[in-house]
Amino acid sequence: MTQNREAWGSRFGFILAAAGSAVGLGNIWKFPYIAGENGGAAFIFIYLICIAIIGFPVLIGEILIGRTTQKNPVGAFAALTHSKLWISIGFLGVIAGFMILSFYSVIGGWTIGYVVETLRGSLSHFHNPEEAGELFDALSGSAVWTLGYHTLFFALVMGIVIRGVQGGIERSSKIMMPVLVSILVILMIRGVTLDGASEGLAFLWVPDWSKINAQAVLIALGHAFFTLSLGMGAMLTYGSYMSKRDNVVTSAAQIVFLDTLIAIMAGVAIFTAVFASGLDPAAGPGLIFQTLPAVFSNMPGGVYFSLLFFLLLAIAALTSAISLLEVVVAYFVDEQGWTRKGAVLIFGGSIFLLGIPSALSFNIMADVTLFDKTFFDIVDFTASNILLPFGGLMIAIFVGWIWSRTAVMTAVKEGAETLFETYPWFEGIWFLFLKFIAPVLITLVLLNSLGII
Ligand code: PHE
Repeated sequence: MTQNREAWGSRFGFILAAAGSAVGLGNIWKFPYIAGENGGAAFIFIYLICIAIIGFPVLIGEILIGRTTQKNPVGAFAALTHSKLWISIGFLGVIAGFMILSFYSVIGGWTIGYVVETLRGSLSHFHNPEEAGELFDALSGSAVWTLGYHTLFFALVMGIVIRGVQGGIERSSKIMMPVLVSILVILMIRGVTLDGASEGLAFLWVPDWSKINAQAVLIALGHAFFTLSLGMGAMLTYGSYMSKRDNVVTSAAQIVFLDTLIAIMAGVAIFTAVFASGLDPAAGPGLIFQTLPAVFSNMPGGVYFSLLFFLLLAIAALTSAISLLEVVVAYFVDEQGWTRKGAVLIFGGSIFLLGIPSALSFNIMADVTLFDKTFFDIVDFTASNILLPFGGLMIAIFVGWIWSRTAVMTAVKEGAETLFETYPWFEGIWFLFLKFIAPVLITLVLLNSLGII
């Protein structure tokens, strides 16, 4: 079966696709606003440490499980353990993929909607974020608008995934990722050349340690999972199409590097503009859809930057969404004998349907709440704050404790022989983080999400 399984055309293609999965709304929408709310530079510093000591080691482990077994999350754990417990962990990943994609597509839809609104000229005459906020409330408050763009976004995701690993995911990533980076470079240059940009830069580089508390550290750690697409089998599935000749460790390092670089670049582009306009960097989730449109309205040529910005968000969301659908599709193709086309249409279609109540959570279902959370909030919270850290914890434990160390080392050295010869200490550090540091810290994040600490 492995013989005719799909594979990446090149290592470069894999890196772009995996970086595409990692770079998403998490980097451009969420990272800037949580950094803004938690004091800027000091938070970024903590976040970088979390990425280095938890994100990177777990990412190597997750890609390695996929590369070694050449299977989806369920099949991978089945191949390595035959244990029902671990197989159900793989299955949780598929469920998380279902859940995350369902609400991710709603926000992905908004980004396309904002591209269209920019083109229609409705974003160009705001005097302040409140006015921009009114339009945002009106748009997201319309069931037709949210559902329409959710449908459009989903159709694009399915259209790419149906074309397969090489012809769909890899090919589209090779086009979209360079476009994404180019747009970001343009926006960054625009940002730093604005009058008053230096305050924004200071916000990003000069740490205010008074804002850092245990809560901020846990937010940084939790975000490390989301932003690297860890803990639900997306990287495992992408790793399963990777060749045994390629180096898992350097690939993981490149993915982490690109993801972090792009988050920081987005931070620079956004905060220089926000500070130059004298607006609030701690505006929260509305930073992108409310503060920024006001910034663009008051900038010469702002409409072009607005267009570029929302296009950037849409591309970032799309390349992440395809990796979420691919996890679900790979499971049904590998394990249940579905054709790719059938799996994309039936299960993609089901995820789309599950997204409908999330899209309606901003309008006609806004009052339907449980523990004060809308349907959207519940799905987001369960998947992002519980399933992802839990999955990450399990991957760390699996690679650190369950899978035999000799087998792990044999697997990881394939394609990386010289790396382990040149840096003999790397093995020890990697295992130290996987076995002890990651499990302890991730457990803290989980307990915090559950309100226990
Ligand atoms: N990493 C993506 C982002 O930052 C989100 C994501 C999570 C994608 C999990 C795939 C799997 O937006």
